[in-house]
Amino acid sequence: MMQKCIFLSALLASSVCYGDALFNNADIPAGKKLLEAHCIQCHASSYGGDGSEIYTRELRKIKTPTGLVVQVRNCNTMLDLKWFEEDEINVAAYLNQQYYHFK
Ligand code: HEC
Repeated sequence: MMQKCIFLSALLASSVCYGDALFNNADIPAGKKLLEAHCIQCHASSYGGDGSEIYTRELRKIKTPTGLVVQVRNCNTMLDLKWFEEDEINVAAYLNQQYYHFK
């Protein structure tokens, strides 16, 4: 729990610095590659197709750009992928561009 709080506060602090520019410097093609390599298979096996329905389903959970980064970070931690923050932002930016379309 404590670890989660530290995580979240670090993230919130960094999103204050990024502001609206959270995804502006992201490397979207790099994010796409990481997502395809590590994430999609499991989503596809639960949701069928290319797995993208998980992001577009009516009851999707993510409502904000920060929420999206938090979800990517939670998956990264859960899967023990040891991505850097930059990787998380790249993946979140790719998901945002393709599916979420947050401004
Ligand atoms: C072992 C299976 C599995 C793997 C691997 C996995 N996910 Fe997921 N993911 C899920 C499941 C199941 C959900 C739905 C959780 C729910 O509905 O509460 C989910 C939900 C999500 C969502 C939220 C969708 C929404 O808007 O509701 C995002 C974003 C996401 N995953 C990103 C990732 C990323 C990024 C990775 C790779 C680092 C990843 N996932 C790897 C199983 C997986």
